Amino acid sequence: MNVINVKDADLAEKLETKGYDVIHGFLKSEEVESFKSFFFARIDDSGVEAPFFTSHWSSSQPYRKEVDDFVSNQLLPVANQWFDDYKCLLGYYLFKKPGKNGQVTPHRDWSLTDESRHTGLILWIPLTDINEENGGFELAEKSHIDAPIRGTNIHPPIPEELHITKIFPKAGDAVIMDNRLIHASQSNQSNEGRLAVGLILFPEDAQILHYFKKDERTGRRTIKVGDNFLRNSFYDYKNPLSTEHLNVFTDTSEMHSMFGKGKKKHPTFKDVKLQERFEKFGYVILKGFLDKETISHLYSVYQENANVVTDKSFFISQWSNKREMKDQINKEVQKALVPRAQKYLFNYDPVFAVFGVKHPKPDSDMYLHQDWSHVDETYFRTVNVWCPLLSLTAKHGPVQLIKGSHRLFDTWRGVDIPDSFLGIGAENLKPYLTDMILEAGDVLMWDHRIIHGSGINQTDTSRVAAIVNMRPRDAKFYLFYADSYEDIKEIEVFEPSADFFTANDSANEPSLVKESALFCHHFPYEKLTVTEKQLSEFLDEEFSNLE
Ligand SMILES: [Fe+2]
Ligand SMILES: [Fe+2]
Repeated sequence: MNVINVKDADLAEKLETKGYDVIHGFLKSEEVESFKSFFFARIDDSGVEAPFFTSHWSSSQPYRKEVDDFVSNQLLPVANQWFDDYKCLLGYYLFKKPGKNGQVTPHRDWSLTDESRHTGLILWIPLTDINEENGGFELAEKSHIDAPIRGTNIHPPIPEELHITKIFPKAGDAVIMDNRLIHASQSNQSNEGRLAVGLILFPEDAQILHYFKKDERTGRRTIKVGDNFLRNSFYDYKNPLSTEHLNVFTDTSEMHSMFGKGKKKHPTFKDVKLQERFEKFGYVILKGFLDKETISHLYSVYQENANVVTDKSFFISQWSNKREMKDQINKEVQKALVPRAQKYLFNYDPVFAVFGVKHPKPDSDMYLHQDWSHVDETYFRTVNVWCPLLSLTAKHGPVQLIKGSHRLFDTWRGVDIPDSFLGIGAENLKPYLTDMILEAGDVLMWDHRIIHGSGINQTDTSRVAAIVNMRPRDAKFYLFYADSYEDIKEIEVFEPSADFFTANDSANEPSLVKESALFCHHFPYEKLTVTEKQLSEFLDEEFSNLE
């Protein structure tokens, strides 16, 4: 079912059932000779010394390109007589010198696409007659069926009891293999070099992916690499962590800078005045956002689900594995808050909704932090919509924030990324905080970049707030992840599933992010260093003349 557009019905059937077939006389003898002379005229340019090698292991980029261009351009038109709508990912030579060490152990080539949807073809065309002496060609029939995923640091074991078929194609014959098929060859015991050309073909509409693990223990990532992946990087596959290799994964086309100053932004508010205020302060407060009935309804929903979390003095209802309660809270809070918020916000949709609860306990404070980035912030802003269900005093441990800090500490936030205000220290930030004293029914909407926290609840009632996290409808959902906490070199960007936050009780678990990732980007990490002096001057300049 995966083999599409193979014109010859018999060939198509063999590929599907056995995983390979041989087309005799695929190349004419003059074509064989022309491929051979092209290779041998450049053999010294390759610089590869191994007893068996492919031209694509050469460290010389001009050599790799010259060979790839030649082989692809010569072979593709011939291949097109047999296959429709395939794209060529790479053309290369395979050379096995005479001697003892040139055997290729049984292996499968890398997965290069979602193999539940598509499969690729490998064309292997000997330019020398293949015989027992020069190593033969070995295939494990049907091993393409149910093949596990392969990639960098992903080497599923090859079954021990393999049924190997040894074949001896002539020069110019083509072995057509499913990309998942196990294949091998022995060393070349003849006196002559053994040469073949190869072509890697994938269906035109197959998305080219690379499956990648940083090491054997980390989560697997599926990276959307594009059609030039093998051309650009496969030569270096033995060194998957080399910088050059990782550069292939860099796709900064959509997020070239998180600090895109001056770049036009997607508006947050429909109203120009509110938008201006939101941009300057990093938050807005609106009075009378919720009516009395809605407040008491939400409060009863809270009471019904009050034990969604029982072991914390401060929590959001998301930090629970009680799926039904979380779902009910999510649904009810969204129903009340989202249509009201959408009256003000410009094309925003909810991400998830929770209750934020602060019990009257001595450890009920919430440390200063910035909320995670989860969109491309060079263009989009995400907003927290926060409604207390009771009127607050300074004693309730209200939300505290630093006005304007969203602009000064504008950076990526996410898993293992240290706080951008680390250099100043949370203690030293306290004098710059403003208490958000709201009445029941008011709403506070803040930019997720703003530095905020809250103090201890010193009253005798629990402080309950209904909260919904909103992001622009057109924004893609991303999560940002530092490659290490201690010594950050890169920020990796993942695209998790849409229900990521609601499906997990602690989104902080990095392996969850990795496993749900569809692809990742790598950025050089630019640490922002803001000093307390800069902060204080900034606040003076921006806000000293205002209220
Ligand atoms: Fe191979
Ligand atoms: Fe927060």
